[in-house]
Amino acid sequence: MVSSPSSHSFFKLLKNTVIAVSGDAGRKDFFTAKGLDINEGFKVLSGAIPMLPGVTSDLQARRITLIHKRLSAIQNSEHLSKLLPKIVGDADRVIRSWQSGTLDPFDVIPKLCFQTTVRSLACSELADDENIVARLKKLYDNLDSSTTPASVLFPWFPSPSLISKLYSTKKIYDIVNRVIDQRIQSGIPQDDTLQMLVDNADDKLVILGFIMGLLVAGARSTGVTASWLITFLGTHPHWKNQAYEEVREVLSSAYSDSDSDPKFTSSGFMTSKSATTASALSTIPIDVWENKMPVLDSLIRETLRIAQPHTAMRRNMGPDTFISGARVPSGAYVVYPFSDVHLNPELYPDPYRFDPGRPKHEMPFAYVGWGAGTTICLGQRLARLQLKIMMSLMLLDTDFLIVDKTGSIPNPLPSPNWNDALTCRPPRDSCLLRFSRTEEDHQKYSPKASC
Ligand code: HEM
Repeated sequence: MVSSPSSHSFFKLLKNTVIAVSGDAGRKDFFTAKGLDINEGFKVLSGAIPMLPGVTSDLQARRITLIHKRLSAIQNSEHLSKLLPKIVGDADRVIRSWQSGTLDPFDVIPKLCFQTTVRSLACSELADDENIVARLKKLYDNLDSSTTPASVLFPWFPSPSLISKLYSTKKIYDIVNRVIDQRIQSGIPQDDTLQMLVDNADDKLVILGFIMGLLVAGARSTGVTASWLITFLGTHPHWKNQAYEEVREVLSSAYSDSDSDPKFTSSGFMTSKSATTASALSTIPIDVWENKMPVLDSLIRETLRIAQPHTAMRRNMGPDTFISGARVPSGAYVVYPFSDVHLNPELYPDPYRFDPGRPKHEMPFAYVGWGAGTTICLGQRLARLQLKIMMSLMLLDTDFLIVDKTGSIPNPLPSPNWNDALTCRPPRDSCLLRFSRTEEDHQKYSPKASC
């Protein structure tokens, strides 16, 4: 078992003690210690989540617990099965709107993801209106770009970035608050996530916190991961081909006992009855998406290892505690940068190389892409489904490749920039998506259900 030594750094951020944890033992203690609170850690150290005095900044633990409970409910298999065709439909529509040519993957892919996230976490009034989705996306991007070292260090100082952040948060609030009010007042039910929140008679702060807070995860984590997934596929033809074969195989099996006898040809599934790729993907059961796509799983896993420059943040809300021998006073902040484990060459030789075939480590906490210990990502089922749907549509219906601004294969290949803690995007124009549609007749599949 490889083990890296612990060597923590202590520093002061204004009056606060901050301890940056490192090493295997420290990581294990960090993720399992009682008393370390993620919400308190984020409040002060992140500065990039929408905080509106009296609204999202005052969500007590009880409300946060309720939000997490609702998030779990919208990811049960029944709800995900209902969401599946809607997410596929949204993704298909957005991809169809792209012109063949050269696109910036770090622009178009996050927008694509955001559309499906609004659909999944909010309501049809917002998701059906592409102008509002675009507006919300811009506002969330603005929250990210107005997070500066000064806004984190001096959150009370009315700097231009603080004002810009408050402005964006207020605008997001206005949009979300309006649709919630309209839905409640109209009394007309819809088949969406907002309805589930309204039907549970949750208080307004919970509904607002759910939508405003969780959309951040989709705007940021899922969007960044998706951009890098497509970038890696577009630069690693072997893995692109493996992924394509897997999705094709899943669709073939879904249709194997169909009496319409589909045949996969160079231009797709040919059957006597017809359907689009999107409608065919919509019939794949959630269980298959989740458990029968090992290649897509390993692509997601390796992408998170190499392209998620996250720093986990906590505050010690309990009594003094110890992290691999170092005392963490009550009230102190503790941070753990994921680079410490995911880019450790002893655990991951040649750590910047994208290799989804790497063996998984037996050592506990050697991989923290979805969190670990007491803090595991609570949106994981939804995020994985979104990522797989988007990859499947791109693989089956489009042809894509990553090029540089001269149109050549980039040399060196694009590599995540860990100094950009939010998006780790490569320099502009160094990584472009050359894209065209391959699916022209839109009438190639015959869903098993209709046979
Ligand atoms: C590819 C996309 C995503 C990735 C890679 C990701 C990753 C993570 C990670 C690493 C953590 C733990 C953070 C820490 O320990 O500091 C986390 C926590 C969390 N994630 Fe995600 N996430 C993603 C998408 C989402 C989405 C779409 C949602 C909501 C719909 C979500 C909701 C949450 C929540 C609520 C927590 C906090 C859990 C807690 O407080 O115990 N995530 N996520």
